[in-house]
Amino acid sequence: MTNLRIGIPSKGRLSELATEIMHQAGLSFRRQDRSLFARVADLPVDITFLRPDDIPVLCAEGAIDMGITGSDLVLEANVDVATRLELGVGRCRLAVCVPDDAKITTIEGLDGCRVATSFPRITAGYFQQHNAKVHLVPLTGSVEVMIALGVADAIVDLVETGSTLAANRLAILDEIGRYETLLIQNRACRHNGPADRIVRRLEGVVIARAYSLLEYNIPRAKLAEVEKITPGFRSPTINPLEDSEWCAVRVMVKRKEVIDVMEKLEALGASAILETQINNCRL
Ligand code: PRP
Repeated sequence: MTNLRIGIPSKGRLSELATEIMHQAGLSFRRQDRSLFARVADLPVDITFLRPDDIPVLCAEGAIDMGITGSDLVLEANVDVATRLELGVGRCRLAVCVPDDAKITTIEGLDGCRVATSFPRITAGYFQQHNAKVHLVPLTGSVEVMIALGVADAIVDLVETGSTLAANRLAILDEIGRYETLLIQNRACRHNGPADRIVRRLEGVVIARAYSLLEYNIPRAKLAEVEKITPGFRSPTINPLEDSEWCAVRVMVKRKEVIDVMEKLEALGASAILETQINNCRL
């Protein structure tokens, strides 16, 4: 039986995100020079480095068994692959953008205009839905400068922080969709054992990144109240303290809610509230 083949992006931001999450999940490999392949240590897995926009179609065709790529690129490729895991990184929006001083205020107002994008399929579907006939200018990059170059009146491009838009004096007219990085799988993949193992490993990292471990002491009389604030992933761990009127609570809390939760716990009488970062987990 051949090794499980995973395609990961060879360049750009997605490449860094994918490599980092794979390494954190204990999938260790090294890309030599600009080689297309790498072997994962101690597992029957090979890595192939590919253009992120080719990964959906190559996965659907079976050239790779699994792949890490953006859900925007899967949608644009219009292929049938299974989504095994949302990786919780690379979150972005696809938006229709116009110059920030443009008179156009509605999508219908773009009827008859030129729209540059590297997402021609999604864009065509979107304008069709809005009954606006536009002339599409399909490109593979640098879409944000096309209005300044006189090639387009509007663009459809990815927005993450909004810096690219601000630098090019563009504003969002409408949001088409929200996307993130996915682990996808070929529907006929025959390496079910190794594939499930990869999913479990990456899932451990994804959950660990999204949660913190919070520990605190609380009077038993307040336990019911604090459990409402910190219900945990399944349920909190409660341990007795020497002082029988108090107990210690250990619980997972969504990382972005930790500060708020700590304040609420303190207000309810909790003490010794400690946040610990989780590196990996199996739940
Ligand atoms: C994307 C996108 C925008 C930019 C948006 O390009 O095309 O140019 O990111 O991000 P921001 O809102 O944080 O400024 P990317 O860097 O992925 O490379 P690309 O030009 O190859 O698409």
